[in-house]
Amino acid sequence: MHSFTYRANALLTFSVTILAVICGLASLTDNFNVPSPTAEIQVLNFNRFQRQPNGNDEVSLTLSISADLQSLFTWNTKQVFVFVAAEYETPQNSLNQVSLWDGIILSKEHATFSVQVPNKYRFVDQGSNLRGKEFNLTLHWHIMPKTGRMFADKIVMTGYRLPESYR
Ligand SMILES: *[C@@H]1O[C@H](CO)[C@@H](O)[C@H](O)[C@H]1NC(C)=O
Repeated sequence: MHSFTYRANALLTFSVTILAVICGLASLTDNFNVPSPTAEIQVLNFNRFQRQPNGNDEVSLTLSISADLQSLFTWNTKQVFVFVAAEYETPQNSLNQVSLWDGIILSKEHATFSVQVPNKYRFVDQGSNLRGKEFNLTLHWHIMPKTGRMFADKIVMTGYRLPESYR
């Protein structure tokens, strides 16, 4: 009896140790994956650009988003969360970040995509700072692993500018 309990315990300890080692290796190998994702975003149109009654500028635009995020996927990747944010400076804030679109990619097969979409979330400034404003469009991603820690990174695309006047 004693011997059985001892062995069962030893076996359990051994199994848990092996499992921990495998999880450790899985998340460790992720550190050696050097991804080379690419993205291209164009503003196809500014559909609307107005100052709301409360004084805040609001823009509605249509984006063309093309990306190849296949290299983000390893055998330890569960899913990848992506979002596109407009980023710009104002006198009040050194960084304003407005999320315009997002998505969840569940597999490598779906990690290459090209979409033309109006902004999914409202692009509203905290004020009326947007006329002629230069902004960046940044593709952010969060890699959610099956085991181990989460990775996040981004591609910054520069050189966009809002119209000089409301329309
Ligand atoms: C856009 O990105 C570049 C490069 O990261 C950065 O130097 C610049 O300050 C950004 N511009 C704005 C308006 O946020």
